Amino acid sequence: MRYLYLDHAATTPVSPPVLEAMLPYFTRAAGNPSSTHAAGRAAHDALETARARTAAAIGAEAREIFFTSGGTESDNWAVKGTALAALRRGRDVHIITTAIEHHAVLRACEALERQGVRVTRLPVDGFGRVDPAEAERAIGPDTALISVMAVNNEIGTIQPIREIGRIARAHGIPFHTDAVQAIGYLPVDVNDWQADLLSLSAHKFRGPKGVGALYVRRGFLPETLLHGGAQERGRRAGTENVPGIVGLGCAIAAAAAAQPEATARLTALRDRLIRGVLDAVPGSRLIGHPTLRQAGNANLSFPGVDQEILLRQLELRGILASAGAACSSGQTEPSHVLAALGLDWEAVTGAIRFSLGTETTGEDIETALAEIPAAVQDARAVQGL
Ligand SMILES: Cc1ncc(COP(=O)(O)O)c(C=O)c1O
Repeated sequence: MRYLYLDHAATTPVSPPVLEAMLPYFTRAAGNPSSTHAAGRAAHDALETARARTAAAIGAEAREIFFTSGGTESDNWAVKGTALAALRRGRDVHIITTAIEHHAVLRACEALERQGVRVTRLPVDGFGRVDPAEAERAIGPDTALISVMAVNNEIGTIQPIREIGRIARAHGIPFHTDAVQAIGYLPVDVNDWQADLLSLSAHKFRGPKGVGALYVRRGFLPETLLHGGAQERGRRAGTENVPGIVGLGCAIAAAAAAQPEATARLTALRDRLIRGVLDAVPGSRLIGHPTLRQAGNANLSFPGVDQEILLRQLELRGILASAGAACSSGQTEPSHVLAALGLDWEAVTGAIRFSLGTETTGEDIETALAEIPAAVQDARAVQGL
């Protein structure tokens, strides 16, 4: 069966040119970038090219880019590294974040709380937006970091990042943003956003899995979490994932170049999907913000329908979607993101995330619109509704 993949927020397929660019670094150009011989130098040059491309895509300087194993590590490094640096200076430490961050940030904050760090989790409104004024009110003398994601991975809501960055800068507080779901969908510029730390992950924009980067503003020094060799200028040890990093560099350059056109195209497809489902399925509703949302994200709820049963019915009809964050799927706990929106239980447990990407066509959306209402009916029948 040919599946229609509408789960690009979980991950994206590697694009053919990215794969092509990576291949030599598994075989004939497989040197270790730390080796001083010709093969090592070639690998080192490939890393530096990827670093320059990554920096250019987000308005940074190459020396501000540190490669990691993905979004999870970048988030952990930003949050824990900043808190540990402040703790080392012997101060009380306070972090401001939101109730709807990815678990990579929230669980890192929980780990820090066990070490005495105080954490404020800002609430969000019914659309999933943070109020910058609340962020400012939460600032205290010991606030060491503000961490607010650019785009939520479940509901696609875009946060007022520029405003929050400006507040953080005005108070002299480092600002981290998880931009994992933003690259390729929004213009991302660390200076425009006044970000001091920014996380990204290659597999969300047609690069490979298991590789990402943390942007660290020049002069800012979060504690190192991975100790060992002198890779990444002594700040992140471990032999670099050269093919993966090459893939990241190609993928981010392509995503940034294509972003304006991709955003316009995907927004039109997304809105066609949303409107079509809302018109065809009585009682269905959109979760998240109607316009301030990532171009690929359509989170739709079918109150009363069990999301796991509906996902199965969608799959039987050839449509692959998700019940929320991919890493949380299969859990019985409700999504912390949907819970934070103040939705009623039926809307939370009936929510499905459809996420569009580069390969999604207008024809795909028409196929989805033909199948989704029928899948909802099937799910209702299975539940005896
Ligand atoms: C917003 C956000 N942050 C962080 C991550 C984690 O990234 P990775 O899968 O590269 O560890 C994800 C991935 O689902 C995400 O959507």
